[in-house]
Amino acid sequence: MSFDRSVKIAPSILSADFANFGAEIEAVEGQGADWIHVDVMDGHFVPNITFGASTCAAIRPHIKTIMDVHLMIAPVDPYIEGFAEAGADFITAHVEAGPHIHRTLQAIRGAGAKAGVALNPGTPADAVVELLDMVDLVCVMTVNPGFGGQKFIDMTAKVRRLREMIGDRPIHIEIDGGVTPQTAPLVVEAGADVLVAGSAVFKGGSVTDPAPYGENIRAIRASYT
Ligand code: DX5
Ligand code: ZN
Repeated sequence: MSFDRSVKIAPSILSADFANFGAEIEAVEGQGADWIHVDVMDGHFVPNITFGASTCAAIRPHIKTIMDVHLMIAPVDPYIEGFAEAGADFITAHVEAGPHIHRTLQAIRGAGAKAGVALNPGTPADAVVELLDMVDLVCVMTVNPGFGGQKFIDMTAKVRRLREMIGDRPIHIEIDGGVTPQTAPLVVEAGADVLVAGSAVFKGGSVTDPAPYGENIRAIRASYT
């Protein structure tokens, strides 16, 4: 299959009902989500704790699209095999999470998953220049990681720079944090093709009333098309 550079919306289950992930995922996919973004936090690399590989394995059967696992943990390497076994399609690690991102990315692909590298807002695009032939996705954080519902930090210039650096390589540029119908067009115009959105997708809806999820997804899509 040829590389899909069309814009995809990846709702983050960080904003879903934690007691009901399976039904939330089915609801949001039913309402048009392209990927499902899964935020793993350890209370060490970031100041918040979510869940680990066993929860990922439990939700996997409910995901019909793509399971996009964002690891905000340090260390990363001891846990890669577990997330790959849990069925992650993409496993993304932060360049800031340790001194050996190259080894981490090798291990992710070695475990059979697609490899992503994430950049905090304070980290320049150039941090991935030596990694471009070993990644399938670059995640540009547009908030400081740890919590949903934060204000978008404008990283448009970084996205543009990455788009140039990537050239024809089959690498997704993902935006994570503060994506709304107001901010989505800025990053799409700069070259992003995966938009993570938590609060902007899940607001106003529930598993018993999922229509707002669809309205929210369509409002983001309409903002850049
Ligand atoms: C932040 C997470 C994001 C977050 C996005 O650390 O990586 O995926 O859930 O949430 P919103 O869209 O609400 O900013
Ligand atoms: Zn994330």
